[in-house]
Formats: sequence, C-alpha cells, structure tokens
Amino acid sequence: MSPEVNLKKILIIDFGSQFTQLIARRVRELGVYSQIISHKKINNQLLETPNINGIILSGGPLNVYEVKKVKFNKKILNSKVPILGICFGHQIIAKEFGGKVNKSETREFGLANIKKINNSKLTKNFFNKKGFNNVWMSHSDEVTKIPKGFKVVASSTNSKFAIIESISENFYGIQFHPEVTHTQNGKKLLKNFIFSICKSKKNWSSKFQKKILINNIKNYVGSSKVICALSGGVDSSVVAKLLKSAIGKNLICIFVNTGLLRKNEEFEILNTFKKRFKFNLIYVDAKNLFLNKLKNISDPEKKRKIIGNQFIKVFEKYSKKIKNVEFLAQGTLYPDLIESKSATGSQSSKIKSHHNVGGLPKKMKLKLVEPLKYLFKDEVRKLGLELNLPKNVILRHPFPGPGLAIRMPGIVTKEKLKILKEADAIFIQSLISNNLYSKIWQAYAALLPVKTVGVMGDNRTYEYICLLRAITSQDGMTADFFTFKKEFIQSVSNKIINNIKGVNRVVYDVTSKPPSTIELE
Ligand code: XMP
Repeated sequence: MSPEVNLKKILIIDFGSQFTQLIARRVRELGVYSQIISHKKINNQLLETPNINGIILSGGPLNVYEVKKVKFNKKILNSKVPILGICFGHQIIAKEFGGKVNKSETREFGLANIKKINNSKLTKNFFNKKGFNNVWMSHSDEVTKIPKGFKVVASSTNSKFAIIESISENFYGIQFHPEVTHTQNGKKLLKNFIFSICKSKKNWSSKFQKKILINNIKNYVGSSKVICALSGGVDSSVVAKLLKSAIGKNLICIFVNTGLLRKNEEFEILNTFKKRFKFNLIYVDAKNLFLNKLKNISDPEKKRKIIGNQFIKVFEKYSKKIKNVEFLAQGTLYPDLIESKSATGSQSSKIKSHHNVGGLPKKMKLKLVEPLKYLFKDEVRKLGLELNLPKNVILRHPFPGPGLAIRMPGIVTKEKLKILKEADAIFIQSLISNNLYSKIWQAYAALLPVKTVGVMGDNRTYEYICLLRAITSQDGMTADFFTFKKEFIQSVSNKIINNIKGVNRVVYDVTSKPPSTIELE
C-alpha cells in the first residue's frame, strides 16, 4: 500500500540502498511529495508522466558493472527532468555517459571532508566560509573519470569526483549521502535540488498524508473486516485511528490487558478508544492468566517468550470469534522493516528479521494492512495529532511489549507489580510537572530483586531497591542517560520512599547504551 497519487513529485529510483526511505523522508520534510520505485519496475509509461519534477537515483549494494543485476533502464536518462545520483546513482550517471568507475583502493566509510572546486546551484549555502564541508561516505567503488561535458564541483582526498554536474544536461552526481544527518547541510543540498533545480512547489503535509492513507486503506480493504491488536502505544493507536476513519465498524480492535501495563493505562485506553472514539473494541482481562504463566519464572528470555506466546494465544482465541475477518492491521514502521529487506523489493543486504505479532497472519490466513510501513516515528506522531488522537497518547514514551515484567528482574508477582506501578507513576508525573517529560526519550522506574536495610523513624526496614532510568536517544539504538538536577532526583526519591511501602532505596542508572540496553531485561 504505497500512496499512489496524481501530485507533482520527485521520483526516487531505488537500487536497494538502506537509505532510500530516508531520502523520501527528507523530501517529505521539505514539503514535497515523493514516490519510491524499484529500478526493476521502471517502465516507459511511468517515465512519461508529466507529474515528475525531478529524479533521484539512490545508492545500492551493487557494482555498476554487474550488468545483469543492475538492469539499468537507459530511458531514465532521457526523461528531460533534472536527475540527482547519490553514491551508486552517481556512479551510474558517470558510467552511462562515458566516464569510468573502479574499485577504490581504499574503501571510504564515515565522515570525509570535501572541498569546493566550482560553484553550483546544488551547493548554495552548503560549504562553510572556507569552502569545506563534512559529509558521510559509504562506498567501495569510485568514479575515476568523469564524462565529457561534466565538471567537478567538489573533491575529497579519496574521492576526486565527490560532486559532479552537467548543467546543460541537468545531471548531478554526489558520492556521499546527503540524506543522513551526519552530512552537514545535507538537507540544504536536497533543498537546492528540489526547489532551485527541479522547481518543485510545496504540496505535502500530514493532513494530505492522512487523506491519502485513508483512501488507500479504503481501496485495499473494501468492505472486508480488519482486526487490530490495540496496545494503546503510539503505533497501534495511529493505525487503529486511521483504519477507523477509513472503514468504521469493520475495524475490530482487541485490547489484551496483560496486567503488565503502567498504572491506570487500561482505563485510559478504554476511555479514549471505547468511550470517546466509539471503537468496536473487545477488552480481554488476562491479568491472572499472565501472572499464572509467569509464576516462578525469572529467566529474562523465558519471561519474554511466555508473554509473547500467551499474547498470541489470547489474541487468536478472541479474533477467531469474529466472523469473516480478512485482514490484520499492524503498526509496523519503516525502521522495523529497514533491517529485514528493502521495502520496494530491490536488492539489499539482509541484516536481521523483524517479528511483530509473530506468526499470526500466516496461521490465521490473514492479509496484512500496514499503513505506516513507510513512515518514521516522528512522522507517525504528527499523523496521530492530525487524526485528533490525544497528546498524551501520541507523545508517550515507548513502552516494551513485555511491559513491566522486564522492568523487574527476577520473578513477577502481584505485590511487585503494585509497587512498581506506583513508583513509575510518581516518577513520570514528576517529569511532567517539571517540564522534563518531552526532553527525555524514555523514562521509567524498575524494581530490583534485592532488599536492603534502611532506617525510617526509629525502625529498621528491609525493602526493595527502586531503579530510575531516563535516557535521551534519537531512535533507541543508542542512548545516553539524562542528567537531572540534584533537587529533582532527590524529590522523586523522597516521594517514592514516603508513599510506597516496600521500597527503602532509590538509585539512578547512569549507563549509556551501549554497553547497557535501555530496558533491564
Ligand atoms: P533495548 O532494551 O533493547 O530497547 O535497548 C530499545 C527500545 O526497544 C524497546 N523494547 C521493546 N519494544 N517489544 C517492544 O515493542 C519488546 O519486546 C521490546 N524490548 C525493548 C525499549 O523499550 C526501547 O524503547
């Protein structure tokens, strides 16, 4: 389900780069519609549409001389609109016009400093005052001779032809990746290409995206029934709200209360979706079931497996009761797919498999609806606000599927869950009232499986340790701990100890990721 619309666009031709969706995302950020298409699916009809303002050729893992695999459709180069080649795309342009591409003697990965050689429309406000810029390289082939009619715009020590252009033909080639944030002013370069060179006009917003996604769902699903596991997290909430807007009562949501949610979360979910938005929502209270299954289990992986399997069993049991279901909606985002395969079907190296509501679609013969699969988290949040979802749902910190069970190393008990829910609520509420919540990527309280001695009044206590974790991050892949003022962390510690029986010590986790992970288990 990709948004196919009749808007003026930048066409992105994918050669299997891990960064292709990032290019599309940058174009969207600049307010312009873009469409990604695999190089294998390019046909004349597509290239002849008057809606294309410009073309970007992505990078990719291939070598330009692997003729069979590349199958480059030369008509692309006759399309009479400006073309920007990135990395592999740059090498293809050079090769097709009679230049040369060879294996580099030294592979170039990471930051490189490039130097301006000639002025170009593409690089307006891109270089610093001295004519240099830091860019992100990731290649093992390089252009060694540029075609006739092309000139060099910038060079690095290892890439003599880091930026090339042929103004008469409207072709631009860059060896580095302007779409990744490590390239300084990368977005400015793309902006110059899109607006100054391609003359695109802004035509893209969350509002428009919402309309297109709803329309696509309507066309794809028709009058069939769709089920969706609603957890109350950002992704499943946005998917459910999109589907509700598209197909109304034909969307049936199942919300499984595992008992491992944060304090009052189940009531908030029911209030928002059932009461306020009138969702067709099946509520399953499975608290006791999960507690029983987790009894005396302390191994983290076993805990995760039990929760995952049990969730699928419960979901399957209740979804089977609904007749004539054809689709399962999932909140898969682009970063979930990025490591499994190229989303458009071009060649890219498989890094790891992605598991969502594992196994269900196949077992139940369901087709998948994944309307967010080309979006990044912050775009999903914007879309959620556009769909009128409450800010507390949309701006909520990420929460893991296995819930509080992986925030209490050791066995899971009712007593420990009660303590943890209270401690977490105090911490999060304090973050909100001190305007810190939105500055932090993820924060939570955990309960350590050790008791220590304390003194309260004149009495000895022997109670649990509560660990607080708050981190900053871009995407959860790496993280750093947040630095609080002493007064803040002291006041949270006091509140927890004064209000929660069972905790007599609070510690703050000061490790980054790596070497630690964000969650404890
Ligand atoms: P770690 O602990 O691996 O967490 O550094 C990275 C991010 O992923 C979240 N997380 C999960 N999310 N199911 C999820 O939906 C899971 O099993 C799971 N485990 C970790 C974690 O909260 C953090 O945001």
